[in-house]
Amino acid sequence: MKVAFIGTGSMGSLLIEAFSRSGALLPHHICASNRSPLKTKRLAQRYPGLKIYGSNAEAARDSKIIFLCIKPLDYPEVIAEIRDVLDDKQIVVSITSPVQIETLEQALPAKIAKIIPSITHSVHSGASLCMYGKRIRPEDRLLLEQLMSSVSTPFTLKETETRIASDISSCGPAFIAYMLQLWAEAAGEQTGLTRANAITLGSEMLLGTGKLLTEGGLTTEELIERVAVPGGVTAEGLAALEAGLRGVFAELIEATHRKYDEDLGKLHALFNPSSPGGETAADDEGEETSSSPQQAAGSPLSKADPPEGSGAATLP
Ligand SMILES: NC(=O)c1ccc[n+]([C@@H]2O[C@H](COP(=O)([O-])OP(=O)(O)OC[C@H]3O[C@@H](n4cnc5c(N)ncnc54)[C@H](OP(=O)(O)O)[C@@H]3O)[C@@H](O)[C@H]2O)c1
Repeated sequence: MKVAFIGTGSMGSLLIEAFSRSGALLPHHICASNRSPLKTKRLAQRYPGLKIYGSNAEAARDSKIIFLCIKPLDYPEVIAEIRDVLDDKQIVVSITSPVQIETLEQALPAKIAKIIPSITHSVHSGASLCMYGKRIRPEDRLLLEQLMSSVSTPFTLKETETRIASDISSCGPAFIAYMLQLWAEAAGEQTGLTRANAITLGSEMLLGTGKLLTEGGLTTEELIERVAVPGGVTAEGLAALEAGLRGVFAELIEATHRKYDEDLGKLHALFNPSSPGGETAADDEGEETSSSPQQAAGSPLSKADPPEGSGAATLP
């Protein structure tokens, strides 16, 4: 079975490396293409047998599964390149949240899945968020989940839950690392513990906490109860956290959803350049947006992409 990766930037390369290291894919199973050739050349040197292509259509043509590891605004161009070589037996997997499954089903003859990965898969952990289009059959789902379980814990959810779920599983590592940084800095300022030691201790603690909450079978409540004995120092620390942290997560969710709504609006404007505001929005670049407006103009996604405030972006 061949698996293609179109786009071998940060996430495409990470997935290739993780699947290769897990043994789920051997190099001769993997086809890769990327806009600029240097990244695929490096992968081919690292994994002899991995086949690289100068054309996305050639990479997709004979592959059973095609991972689209590109940014949302690169979809129109890539779809235009691959749609004529795909058939209804192939599975296209999108790894980006704003492009909707229905949009891809309208644009491509293949079966469509959306799987949002996480940087944690590079150490074979974390949840991959799995959503399936209506052409996906149980055996396709099994195939995808077998593949994803070699590097992660597949977690099925509704497409409307993608944003909030990927806040936790994909953005979460950055959020938690930032919190650890602040904690280490405060520890250094108030006690003199070196930042490096604080980060090492905190990282080991995070690893152990994750294990207790997964394979250890503890709930968050049980874990807190086991550590925070009444009258102890943990209880005092928890009271300080309760006072300072409770509103922070509501703000975090509002911030990520607001940005996502903005990005959806920009995408909609770029995919529909004749709609009001389309050209202005085309000048901006969001986190999810890197392509030129010219690439989006006349795209096969232009009618189907969701407008601002569509289900996937609605605040919970
Ligand atoms: N990073 C994360 O933690 C994470 C987690 C979950 C999901 N995602 C999603 O994954 C997607 C990719 O993110 P990333 O961080 O991997 O971005 P990235 O590092 O910028 O990689 C995107 C790659 O796509 C290539 N590309 C662009 N247009 C192309 C085309 N027409 N044909 C072939 N290749 C093309 C780019 O090639 P060049 O070398 O020419 O630029 C680049 O290597 C995004 O939609 C993101 O939302 C990311």
